[in-house]
Amino acid sequence: MQIQAALLTAPHTPFHIETLELAPPRAGEVLVKIAAVGVCHSDWHLVSGATQHPMPVVAGHEGAGIVEAVGKGVHHLKVGDQIVLSWAPDCGECFYCLNGKPNLCSTFTEPIWAGVMLDGTPRLSWNGQPVYHYCGLAAFAEYAVVPMQSCIRIPQEVPPEIAALVGCAVATGVGAALFTSPVKPGEKVVIYGAGGVGLSAVLGASLAGAGEIIVVDTNAAKLALARDFGATQTVLANEDTTTAIHEFTNGRGADQVFEAVGAPAVQEAAFKAVRPGGTLTLIGLAPMGSGTNLPGAEITRKEIVIKGSYYGTVNAHRDFPMMIDLYQHGKLPLERLVSKRYTLPEINEAYAEMLNGSSARGVIVF
Ligand SMILES: NC(=O)c1ccc[n+]([C@@H]2O[C@H](COP(=O)([O-])OP(=O)(O)OC[C@H]3O[C@@H](n4cnc5c(N)ncnc54)[C@H](O)[C@@H]3O)[C@@H](O)[C@H]2O)c1
Ligand SMILES: [Zn+2]
Ligand SMILES: [Zn+2]
Repeated sequence: MQIQAALLTAPHTPFHIETLELAPPRAGEVLVKIAAVGVCHSDWHLVSGATQHPMPVVAGHEGAGIVEAVGKGVHHLKVGDQIVLSWAPDCGECFYCLNGKPNLCSTFTEPIWAGVMLDGTPRLSWNGQPVYHYCGLAAFAEYAVVPMQSCIRIPQEVPPEIAALVGCAVATGVGAALFTSPVKPGEKVVIYGAGGVGLSAVLGASLAGAGEIIVVDTNAAKLALARDFGATQTVLANEDTTTAIHEFTNGRGADQVFEAVGAPAVQEAAFKAVRPGGTLTLIGLAPMGSGTNLPGAEITRKEIVIKGSYYGTVNAHRDFPMMIDLYQHGKLPLERLVSKRYTLPEINEAYAEMLNGSSARGVIVF
């Protein structure tokens, strides 16, 4: 079938809306009519070159939609189901899946990073040439063929914009505070970066009962937003953030610090905000090949824990329905995240507004 999609042909160029050919779903795959897809910074890393990926590519990995058709062997879904897309199509059988880490499943990581489906081939093409799928989802498009393991069925009445955000920002940010580094009631928490991911971490830390939530961002408008989301204190990033944070944490530093920007300099600043015995969780994706300088002697003497958090350490099949349920019960106010809606042809404007910080999370709706 022919579909409209936002194509990226090379780094440092804009997205182009093009008509692509999408082959039907093969065994174990699903054709999804995309209803909404979030504007996540991770897709932008393909444009900026911070993440290297085969091109041309259709990005978009924070999506929700409706099942349009299923391939052979897909029994748990039917046409018309509303689903959230997971960018970690875990197999349930590998070492990582069996050890409770489906977000690190070794079956999907290789093909997905090669930009192809789980069988090693793409379904998209443009003028007869293959087009790669970012995260096996390629959701900046009217339709997508995805692995069945990426489809998590949710109630039909959930607005698709909310559902889409559960597929990345919410899973990542809320998951970091609940699963990667569970926040304990009363803890003092610092979050660097108040984008879709950082604001979701604010929601997760609030839900877990954090005592103080201190948010650091370079953009004052983002700090105002963070206060609406539950931040108790905010710090403009160009101030001396370490001193400001120590003032809010009895001079000790925070119990838990989450970095949701993805820059080595911010990771280094975030380290200085952790108290002895505390935890630094790295959520942001620093450019591939970059290095972060952290003082080994201090890490040892202060017993500081440093952790990566990939997809919020979620088990998508277990946790997406749980997060949607919390939203439906008013405990996770995800509607606040959806700050602006765009059409697919407005995608470059949506990214410009993400970069200038004028939205919490922009969402492309169809
Ligand atoms: N670990 C994962 O699984 C995972 C999943 C999704 C996104 N990410 C990454 O998380 C990061 C954030 O994603 P997002 O979609 O929320 O991005 P975003 O662009 O919406 O938000 C980033 C925020 O960081 C702020 N910022 C920029 N420079 C700063 C600085 N020096 N100090 C403090 N704040 C600063 C910006 O003003 C903005 O509010 C990105 O690196 C993204 O790739 C990681
Ligand atoms: Zn697996
Ligand atoms: Zn994302």
